[in-house]
Amino acid sequence: MSKSLLITGGAGFIGSAVVRHLIHNTDYRVVNLDRLTYAGNLDSVAEVSNSSRYAFEQVDIRDRRELDRVFREHRPAGVMHLAAESHVDRSIEGPADFIDTNIVGTYTLLEASRAYWNELEGQSKADFRFHHISTDEVYGSLGETGLFTEETPYAPNSPYSASKAASDHLVRAWHHTYGLPVVTSNCSNNYGPYQFPEKLIPHMILNAMDGKPLPIYGDGSNIRDWLYVDDHVRALVRIFERGRLGENYNVGGHNERTNLEVVTTLCGLLDELVPESTHRPHDALITYVKDRPGHDQRYAIDATKIEKDLAWVPEETFETGLRKTVQWYLDNPDWVSRVRSGDYRDWIETNYGRRGTAK
Ligand code: NAD
Ligand code: TYD
Repeated sequence: MSKSLLITGGAGFIGSAVVRHLIHNTDYRVVNLDRLTYAGNLDSVAEVSNSSRYAFEQVDIRDRRELDRVFREHRPAGVMHLAAESHVDRSIEGPADFIDTNIVGTYTLLEASRAYWNELEGQSKADFRFHHISTDEVYGSLGETGLFTEETPYAPNSPYSASKAASDHLVRAWHHTYGLPVVTSNCSNNYGPYQFPEKLIPHMILNAMDGKPLPIYGDGSNIRDWLYVDDHVRALVRIFERGRLGENYNVGGHNERTNLEVVTTLCGLLDELVPESTHRPHDALITYVKDRPGHDQRYAIDATKIEKDLAWVPEETFETGLRKTVQWYLDNPDWVSRVRSGDYRDWIETNYGRRGTAK
């Protein structure tokens, strides 16, 4: 029988892309473990959920007893840990869930993984690995020059990035102290299909399609380094399978853009792809709003290590990736409308009644 992988957060944006990739392109069995918060959406894995190699477990990573049961029943060969609270603005509004899930949840998952790994023997024990998926935001903010390398000191600025930095340190300590076989990756901003429309790119695409204002925080000069989600997924599988234990890998696509450039580019794409729209030119919808508190100015990744050591390079440029993304949101009005109406959450009530743990 093929090896089983435990993917936490597999109903989220990046996790669902990992799950779809593993089912379509590998022979791994996939256990998708997700609590299904507002960000978890099983519609995003619907195309693979009938596979005999796919299983879903609605479990909170803070629930040790349930984690132990999942490890016992599915006997995974490894863990890819993506479950997290992931939106900076929400972390500013209410940090508690970020501390709970990202720090306490990662601690609980590490302990459950360690207990399981301690019981393994022979090749299964030697091959087991825990891949922690993190962000470049742990490095803080850059000025006009320079890039984040794996040696850049941690200097997280938001409650989100501080909680991710804390989880990275826990993972490192579990390796150093207990020998747990871990690898960590720190990636720049992802974009692509199935992203929850609170993040910059889907938020702007959907507002523009509806002729609503496009709210740019501050003056729009903040820079992010954009990576198409499927390029990230390919990097994650490469790191999981071939990364050196105890090490960190930075992942990024050499696509630095100001927020204003991003929004202007996607407005141009919508002008072209929806020529009949009454909202053209879409960039007339751009509105400058109050800045985000503590807004990091610039993120940019030096991806030399993963490129040289693991022979990974991104396949999409920002232009090709953004075109695919805008087209996907245009082609998938059902996914969008179920997210906007809240209907994507029906699964929980149908299967668990009203006492589902998601908020
Ligand atoms: P997301 O918010 O779209 O998905 C997160 C998933 O985790 C959801 O399905 C949610 O239901 C689940 N989850 C949340 N709390 C949980 C809990 N307590 N127990 C079990 N499941 C829980 O996030 P994403 O954008 O897909 O990000 C995935 C991972 O990648 C995160 O760890 C994030 O920090 C990291 N990351 C994201 C980006 C990005 O640009 N989106 C960039 C770098 C790293
Ligand atoms: P976001 O997608 O929230 O990702 P992150 O904060 O993790 O980088 O935001 C990306 C950038 O876009 C960030 O500089 C904040 C900015 N932004 C806006 O200007 N307007 C918006 O409506 C949103 C959601 C983000």
